[in-house]
Amino acid sequence: MEHILSQLPGALLPWYDSFHRDLPWRRDREPYHIWLSEIMLQQTRVEAVKGYYARFLAALPTIANLAKADDELLNKLWEGLGYYSRVRNLKKAAQVIMTDFGGLFPRRYEDILALPGIGEYTAGAICSIAFGQPTPAVDGNVLRVISRICNEDTPIDSLAYKKCVTERLASIYPPRAGDFTQALMELGATICGPNRAPQCSICPCKAFCRAHAAGTAESLPVKSAK
Ligand code: ADE
Repeated sequence: MEHILSQLPGALLPWYDSFHRDLPWRRDREPYHIWLSEIMLQQTRVEAVKGYYARFLAALPTIANLAKADDELLNKLWEGLGYYSRVRNLKKAAQVIMTDFGGLFPRRYEDILALPGIGEYTAGAICSIAFGQPTPAVDGNVLRVISRICNEDTPIDSLAYKKCVTERLASIYPPRAGDFTQALMELGATICGPNRAPQCSICPCKAFCRAHAAGTAESLPVKSAK
């Protein structure tokens, strides 16, 4: 039997084409821009990030500018976003890109993952969105979506589940890798969102979602008692 997730690209990409939000970091595939947006979005809502993103790039339009930026300017550009280690790591990574990669953002997943402040989620997002590689970006939103589609009650905060979801997704990545990564994020941020009932009636995955069929969508995902 073909895996149920093999139906995802065919359902998600046309939906994404019609309904995705027009966000500033979706207007080009410049790796610096994708990287900056993913770092800003880590602990901050989309609406709040928009203004910071535009101001940051107006002040520091290139990775070379970022590598040489005054810490005072960086703190000012980040003021209000919080988690200042994010911006310190941005500058450190920019310096590594200048010295080790001649100022060109690296394309290899392992090289991206090794940069300061970049974990598996961010490396997967950059690699797929900026460079079109089949590297899933798996965060809590994606884990929730997949646990519902597959109707799985494994705790989504277990490392084993994250690994398993990452592997299954990697095996069904379509050629439009960046759009697929963003479509999964988009579904998890909108229709299949957290802390409220999923809007199954308008979901592009309704026809094959096992939690929807079983009536369990609202009781998923399961989280382990900490
Ligand atoms: N959250 C994390 N990454 C995002 C992206 N690229 N677009 C919208 N929301 C996001």
